[in-house]
Amino acid sequence: MKLLIASNNKNKIKEIREILNDYNLEILSLDDLGIDVEVIEDADTFEGNARKKAHEIYSIANIPTIADDSGLMVDALDDKPGVHSARYAGPSCSYSDNNNKLLSELSNKPKPHRAKFVSVINFKSAEYDEIFEGYFEGEIVESPRGSYGFGYDPVFKPDGYDLTFAELSSEEKNKISHRSRSLQKLKEFLKTITDCNCQTII
Ligand code: IMP
Repeated sequence: MKLLIASNNKNKIKEIREILNDYNLEILSLDDLGIDVEVIEDADTFEGNARKKAHEIYSIANIPTIADDSGLMVDALDDKPGVHSARYAGPSCSYSDNNNKLLSELSNKPKPHRAKFVSVINFKSAEYDEIFEGYFEGEIVESPRGSYGFGYDPVFKPDGYDLTFAELSSEEKNKISHRSRSLQKLKEFLKTITDCNCQTII
């Protein structure tokens, strides 16, 4: 079965490909199909944004499509940056701008700085419109550590580990992450779709 990833985020696409690589799916990106569209993410929930991205791209490509809307929720910041995770420090900010803003906002708050990563996936096809959610809890560390991954990975230490997501290899992050949890639920669902024939191949 063909599966289109409705994202322009190369890091996210790479992780999704890695996590789904044991399934018999032909995974396509917008680049592969020459689709040059930036969906405006203006919903106020992860689910709303995931549906918006998947539906808009499905209406163009007519191929079963997934969109992941994800982000970091920090307890002491009333769950911010939340749906604004990508552009927390401004419209054209870098990942390190976002991390610096987060750390400076937390500098006068009591520790530990509890947080969780969230991934909400929408699967849209002619017959289906399904939502799958995954979370991983942890703490925000005092300063960025590690060079793997992307986004807030250098400041997030998952529960049960002494390393940040950016200090874990992609294999290790993908075993436990919010995204692997939401995609695991997608995989279970895909097994039940008769035309998918996407049994595990590894
Ligand atoms: P969106 O889902 O494209 O709106 O953006 C998600 C944003 O959340 C990214 O740009 C990152 O800043 C952050 N984010 C989502 N997932 C991860 C992750 O696995 N690691 C680090 N940051 C993430």
